[in-house]
Amino acid sequence: MSRFFDKLRANAIPTASDWEAHLIGAHKIAPQMTPMAFANYRNHEALNSYQILARVALLNTFNDCLDLGCGDGHFLNYLLPKLQQGSHYVGVDMGPTELAIAQKTFNDTRLRFILARAQELPLENNSIDLVVSHMVIMLMDDLDSLAQELGRILRKNGRFVAVYGAPAIESPKWQFIRKIAFDIIERELPLVRSLHTGDSRIYSREGLEEVFLGQGRFTKVEANEGFTIRVPNTIEDIWSMLKDMYLIGALPVKVKLEIQKAVEAGLQSILPEPFVEYPMRLVSFVT
Ligand SMILES: C[S@@+](CC[C@H](N)C(=O)[O-])C[C@H]1O[C@@H](n2cnc3c(N)ncnc32)[C@H](O)[C@@H]1O
Repeated sequence: MSRFFDKLRANAIPTASDWEAHLIGAHKIAPQMTPMAFANYRNHEALNSYQILARVALLNTFNDCLDLGCGDGHFLNYLLPKLQQGSHYVGVDMGPTELAIAQKTFNDTRLRFILARAQELPLENNSIDLVVSHMVIMLMDDLDSLAQELGRILRKNGRFVAVYGAPAIESPKWQFIRKIAFDIIERELPLVRSLHTGDSRIYSREGLEEVFLGQGRFTKVEANEGFTIRVPNTIEDIWSMLKDMYLIGALPVKVKLEIQKAVEAGLQSILPEPFVEYPMRLVSFVT
């Protein structure tokens, strides 16, 4: 159990650094959880969310790319075939477990991996053309520092392209299933309701503009669109998405089983619906 969970159990509000430590711990317990959940499910064009990010991010040529919160480096499966000779990729993540897997998996002199927080990047000013990020920024409280850092390291006409989880409300079936799980989580950990694990400004155009255009270096929002990926309506598929989620993975086994059973009953109640759509968002900003 993490300090984050211990505090919730003791009815105390965890701090932002407890949350970050919890994320690092969750990836230590369940390494590669993100590609395991997200690489298999696709949108209506049969693209998974990494490919949806790649389609927009890799449209223009670049010399230096940063993968923010790179995890085990899964995005490299899509980026590496397009990485020109002489171009470079740097993967940054605050979690050592995933980073070690990335280092072991991808062996290429054009790649390097750095253990660091996204808000304090050990990179030179004006040294990067493209920042990509898959399923990371919805976890960050300190988005203003992130926008400052990205503005500092990006060159002129640089891009920040990110894909992240959107609020459940953008997909009624996902909202229904998520509520079943969260009713049980909230019964176990009542303070979960008042937690802020992320910055809600990323869910509105005004909020995104305030964060990214407000710090002066980014000049425009190039894309801001919602999409969904289809997860088959089976408990195996839905549980593969839910089981390692940061508020579920660390619960006692008994509670996890209870959630699994309740979700299974919920899925049966929406049959013959073949899919539950998981809501996501893609944004792109230009300096
Ligand atoms: C859901 S995983 C996504 C991993 C990878 N991008 C992928 O999609 O396969 C979130 C990752 O973001 C990292 N992360 C979250 N907040 C971070 C921060 N402030 N600085 C650096 N890494 C962060 C976590 O350590 C974790 O590896």
